[in-house]
Amino acid sequence: MSLNIIVLAAGEGKRMQSRLPKVLHPLAGRSLLHHVIHTARELQPQQLIVVIGHAGEAVRAAFTADTAITWVEQTERLGTGHAVQQALPYVDAHARVLVLYGDVPLMRAETLRALVAASDTGLAILTARSEDAGNYGRIVRNQQGAVQRITEARDANAEERAIQEWNTGVLCAPAARLAQWLSHVTRYNAQGEYYLTDVIALAVAEGVPVSTVHPTRVADVEGVNSKRELAMLEAVYRRDQAEALLAAGVTLADPARIDVRGQLQCARDVEIDVNCVFEEQVTLGEGVRIGPNCVLRNVSIAAGTQVLAYSMLDGAQVGANCRIGPYARLRPGAQLDADVHIGNFVEVKASHIGAGSKANHLAYVGDSSVGQRVNIGAGTITCNYDGVNKHRTIIEDDCFIGSDATLVAPVTISRGSYVGAGSTISKDTPSGQLTVARAKQISLPSWKPPAKKTKG
Ligand code: UD1
Ligand code: CA
Repeated sequence: MSLNIIVLAAGEGKRMQSRLPKVLHPLAGRSLLHHVIHTARELQPQQLIVVIGHAGEAVRAAFTADTAITWVEQTERLGTGHAVQQALPYVDAHARVLVLYGDVPLMRAETLRALVAASDTGLAILTARSEDAGNYGRIVRNQQGAVQRITEARDANAEERAIQEWNTGVLCAPAARLAQWLSHVTRYNAQGEYYLTDVIALAVAEGVPVSTVHPTRVADVEGVNSKRELAMLEAVYRRDQAEALLAAGVTLADPARIDVRGQLQCARDVEIDVNCVFEEQVTLGEGVRIGPNCVLRNVSIAAGTQVLAYSMLDGAQVGANCRIGPYARLRPGAQLDADVHIGNFVEVKASHIGAGSKANHLAYVGDSSVGQRVNIGAGTITCNYDGVNKHRTIIEDDCFIGSDATLVAPVTISRGSYVGAGSTISKDTPSGQLTVARAKQISLPSWKPPAKKTKG
């Protein structure tokens, strides 16, 4: 039987106290709904349907690149049963339907696979256990332990409220059966809603077996209703990422102080100090060391390179045995070969820097090609922007750029050139010569310091 997945995401999320629809709030850099869709895809469903309502256009707009999602609008928010009913016309009648929530981000694919397998015989629900099941729906079983129904907390009597097993909301059933049960669900309950959970009692009445599956831990099935719950799940996610890195042999100064918001791949003997943030795709080669308080986004770093404290690397490729920082900034298109040194308050953008070159202090290198063994002095600026267009600066091998030089692009500093400190270079320099472009220094031997006027 093929699998169709319905994700419920029409809720407003009032308790988030935000303009942003709840399912678009980010956890580890990706929206809650993005996490759910990513996990859903791991089950390779024939169809993925997302039910939207509140701020539905904004939710849909966040996924415009994903054309494989069927969006269904629930105009009136009449309950979870009603939400599933809106999606059913788009479901293959012969398929099995898995219902997920858009605000439960840490759900694991393996748990869902177990649930789908358990639904072979009829209806399967994912349940968990807590000492106090709070506002969750209670799983009511008979004396033989068979599931009888789900009672919502608000409709439960004292005895039912004491039940510790609760409904995560996730269930799996054959589409045709689900449609038939839902057509019998009414709104006669405390919230005046069509409860999806009412299908359990209807299945039982028909003699359809109801099986239960449990998650490996409660956090995997917890939903986000407030910023507090969001922060708690973010912490769980953060810990999971840190654990995975430790298991892979990465040294973390403090596993509680690292944020991986994407994919971080590490070779052997990588060391990461505290408070570093890794976003999107980051690859670190063997023996790479990252100092404290660094941010790396879409970066690959080859073996032996050291990134010192407070550096920000974004969209950069760094070769082996480089030394970056402290306080360095690599921007998109920065491409560094081996043994390059980029020091404090140096910014590199859309530039290739050849092996063994150095810019150790206070410089801007943008839209440039820098050769090998070049020394870029403190305060050097490539003036790449004329107010309208960007131009390239080429610095060939073995050049020495004195401190505080301004290189006005387009310009070429030919192989082996020396540029005198404080020069403004707007014409190409000849190879192997010293070029100085600044006012000549003069001294006035007859000069006297000004004297104070004496009064009358
Ligand atoms: C629901 C379950 C409850 C379970 C709990 C787990 C029902 C009746 N109750 O309760 O047993 O313990 O989830 O979190 O199903 N939604 C829509 N349209 C609607 C209503 C809800 O899309 O008309 C979506 C929400 O956006 C959310 C999910 O369905 O993603 C659950 O809705 P919510 O209101 O949080 O359900 P609960 O009352 O908490
Ligand atoms: Ca909820």
